[in-house]
Amino acid sequence: MSDFDAAWAKLNAAGERARTRRIASLFDAEPGRLARLTLEAAGLTLDLSKQPWSLPEVGEMLDLARAGGVEGARARLLSGEIVNRSENRPALHVALRAPPGAGLKAAGVEVSSEVDATRAAIKRFADGVRSGAIKGATGKPFRAILHIGIGGSDLGPRLIWEALKPLDPQIELRFTANVDPAELAQAIVGLDPAETLVVVVSKTFTTLETLTNAETARAWLREALGEKGADAHLAAVSAAPATAQAFGVAPDRVFAFWDWVGGRYSLWSAVGLSCATALGFEAFEGLLAGARAMDVHFAEAPLERNAPVLLALAHIFNRNGLDRSIRAVVPYAQRLRLFAPFLQQLEMESNGKRVDAEGRPLSRGTAASVFGDAGTNGQHAFFQLLHQGTDIIPIDILAVREGSEGSPDAQRKLLANAIAQAEALLVGRPEAEVRGELKAKGLPEAHIDALAPQRTFPGDRPSSFILLERLGPEQLGALIALYEHKTFVEGVLWGINSFDQWGVELGKTLATRVLGELEGGTAGAHDPSTEALIARLKL
Ligand code: F6P
Repeated sequence: MSDFDAAWAKLNAAGERARTRRIASLFDAEPGRLARLTLEAAGLTLDLSKQPWSLPEVGEMLDLARAGGVEGARARLLSGEIVNRSENRPALHVALRAPPGAGLKAAGVEVSSEVDATRAAIKRFADGVRSGAIKGATGKPFRAILHIGIGGSDLGPRLIWEALKPLDPQIELRFTANVDPAELAQAIVGLDPAETLVVVVSKTFTTLETLTNAETARAWLREALGEKGADAHLAAVSAAPATAQAFGVAPDRVFAFWDWVGGRYSLWSAVGLSCATALGFEAFEGLLAGARAMDVHFAEAPLERNAPVLLALAHIFNRNGLDRSIRAVVPYAQRLRLFAPFLQQLEMESNGKRVDAEGRPLSRGTAASVFGDAGTNGQHAFFQLLHQGTDIIPIDILAVREGSEGSPDAQRKLLANAIAQAEALLVGRPEAEVRGELKAKGLPEAHIDALAPQRTFPGDRPSSFILLERLGPEQLGALIALYEHKTFVEGVLWGINSFDQWGVELGKTLATRVLGELEGGTAGAHDPSTEALIARLKL
């Protein structure tokens, strides 16, 4: 048996043990537990002590990481080797946030110069728009940006804007992703085309949703400003710049990125143009600096103090050791409410795979389904299931010490809830205690028998706690990079290519076919249910 197989076997055994003990008991048995499982990385603090592993089992998980070649894979990723083999590309998003002149190479070709030049172009554009030097066709300065993109061309920028936007922005940023025209219609409510810049973001510049929305937005601009006038209001970001130009965007308004940047890892490239413009270039640089600090930590910290590695191992302990296929993510910060949707793409598109990088079926569970919402809102929605449901769902709790605005009193209440939920999930509330309380209230015995189990909390539900000192660009950059690297480490251990997404292709092809039929084209062969739907919804 290889060391790697032996390490997986140990994880199975650890999972069996973990089912028979309580996490809370590990704090008594292991005096050094909290210190050992509390990590500092790029200004973030991670507490992984409320996870179900014992300290010796953490050691075994680190052996799994070593035997699974995490260190070698990390070196290959960071040095720009071709790690996305099905598409024959590196995944060098770290180059996008490297310091100027880093000289990084993607598949042996120097890319940092292009990255630096594009960063300078983003700065010139963002500064120009903000200062009013770059104006609309009627001479008015831009007061709004409509960002059009979907998936990786949308979720990152949307998260960043929501997290960092000023209360009274100089430039308002609106987003539209869905091909449902309702989203675009709502996004432009109250916007004056003469003061609006439309930024079309698409790595491929072939995505149906984005091109449909881009055409609608361009028509909206043209109606108000004429064909020539509209051109001054269009910019594009793409890894296929020629296609963006063919769409009609002026060459000096097309910002490039490269095929070695995965869509869901692209917010650090010109995909962040709208954010850099609406927030100011300094904020964008702060974001890059925070991510860079996490990159350095990921590259240099020993595995046993490495935050992305340990977070990945904690998640694998739950996913594979304890067969937990769902994870909740709850940021106790309203400004981070889009973090769960962002992670859904990052983790589920990267690692939602059933075969390994060689095409062989995988024998282990891979990416967990991720869901979540901001705390405390989630407490009044799905936390009931987290506390008392039949499935144990591990949770990542995020909290920010310093609130971005509003009363310190409310911020303290928010933090109190974050801490209290993690505690309640861990310790629960025993039935004996509940019975005692009901008895003291004088309830009849039969009533107590029915009520007590319903008011009992089993506890022993694992959580990770991630603390940000404040929600600034640096902290946000570090947080996103933490999850990018942890997703990569998971992919390495599962044997997955985390950087392709073949699973989204079939739906796209079939939608095109169905569209043809809805528009009156020849009917194809379908199952009876599909046929009935097409017949009913046909024009
Ligand atoms: O459909 C999924 C996907 O391929 C994502 O990976 C990507 O982020 C998104 O579509 C958008 O693609 P593009 O940026 O090329 O428009």
